[in-house]
Amino acid sequence: VGKAFLSQLTSIATRLSQTKHNQTYLSLVLLARSSKALFSPNYAPIPLSSWSDALAASTLAVPPLSEMAEYLSGAPGPVVLVDNTSDIKVAESYPDFLAKGISVVTPNKKGFSADAGLWDRIFAAAANGSGTGSGFVFHESTVGAGLPVLSTLHELVETGDKVRRVEGVFSGTMSYLFNTWNPTDPGSGEAQPFSACVAKARELGYTEPDPRDDLNGMDVARKCTILARLAGLKVQDATSFPTQSLVPKELEAAASAEEYLEGMKQFDGEMESLKADAAKEGKVVRFVGSVDVLGGNVKVGLEKFDKSHPIAALKGSDNIISFYTERYGDNPLIIQGAG
Ligand SMILES: NC(=O)c1ccc[n+]([C@@H]2O[C@H](COP(=O)([O-])OP(=O)(O)OC[C@H]3O[C@@H](n4cnc5c(N)ncnc54)[C@H](OP(=O)(O)O)[C@@H]3O)[C@@H](O)[C@H]2O)c1
Repeated sequence: VGKAFLSQLTSIATRLSQTKHNQTYLSLVLLARSSKALFSPNYAPIPLSSWSDALAASTLAVPPLSEMAEYLSGAPGPVVLVDNTSDIKVAESYPDFLAKGISVVTPNKKGFSADAGLWDRIFAAAANGSGTGSGFVFHESTVGAGLPVLSTLHELVETGDKVRRVEGVFSGTMSYLFNTWNPTDPGSGEAQPFSACVAKARELGYTEPDPRDDLNGMDVARKCTILARLAGLKVQDATSFPTQSLVPKELEAAASAEEYLEGMKQFDGEMESLKADAAKEGKVVRFVGSVDVLGGNVKVGLEKFDKSHPIAALKGSDNIISFYTERYGDNPLIIQGAG
């Protein structure tokens, strides 16, 4: 994500510098990966065309986050911290950056799905929260990746709509697995057991290196925590509501991803009977997250859907998010696309 961001930054910087009004010049003044960093005392811009070689050649250690915030706050213009890590420590320091007038943009879910206290501290410090500082925080891609999910929810709430329920498939990995294992139209090919679908998805790079990190449901639980909070629910953290893990207890401690994949085969029968039960009702099985705003409940896990339901008809690794609101009535506002 960090590399993709830097390549997008090149074209954004060019475009902004050429606009007729409000010409804006973006400079990259600090770059860090976990092992090393690149920056200079006089904030000399790091060339966007050669950042990779320059970072590789750097011998500078990553400064502690408090020093990084201090350094950035002394830059000659407004500063945005773009956090492309999944590091909770970086997320815990957002309030400090924001209080120093540094804006934060991030796809890192940790800061927004950890304990409610951190969420409160972040938005108490942000200019687009209740803060008086000049740092803004934006985290659109923490849910639905590139899809405009959070901005849509935010607009609905800000313009006075009442969100009743949000439901969807929030994980590209889970989407791919269930669309492949339990398609609405099975065709004539031989159906693959669930463990084989997981192994295939891993081979294609659709899962984390250890598929348990997808199948334990926590990624979806984190996203539902963020949605629930934006919809106005108090959620203590991503473990404070029911999340169905698809990792059998017996395999939680498997020593490697390979051992886990091998062990999964003995649980294929359980998954097949779920599929058969759904088929008896003309339905398919999907892994979904739902936020019931009216009832104050959040849950993540397997559900059965009619084959005609938009969630059942999803393709590939797409995400789908349905907003049931007062304005939209029984026909939800649906956002669907590549996750
Ligand atoms: N991949 C997606 O499609 C996607 C979609 C939505 C959201 N996200 C989120 O985007 C973030 C990045 O995802 P990714 O797939 O790019 O992860 P990744 O491949 O693990 O990359 C994380 C990068 O962060 C660096 N890093 C970790 N801790 C750091 C620290 N304390 N200071 C500086 N750099 C640090 C790592 O450096 P080293 O390489 O030196 O260790 C690595 O380059 C995650 O929060 C993820 O949940 C990803």
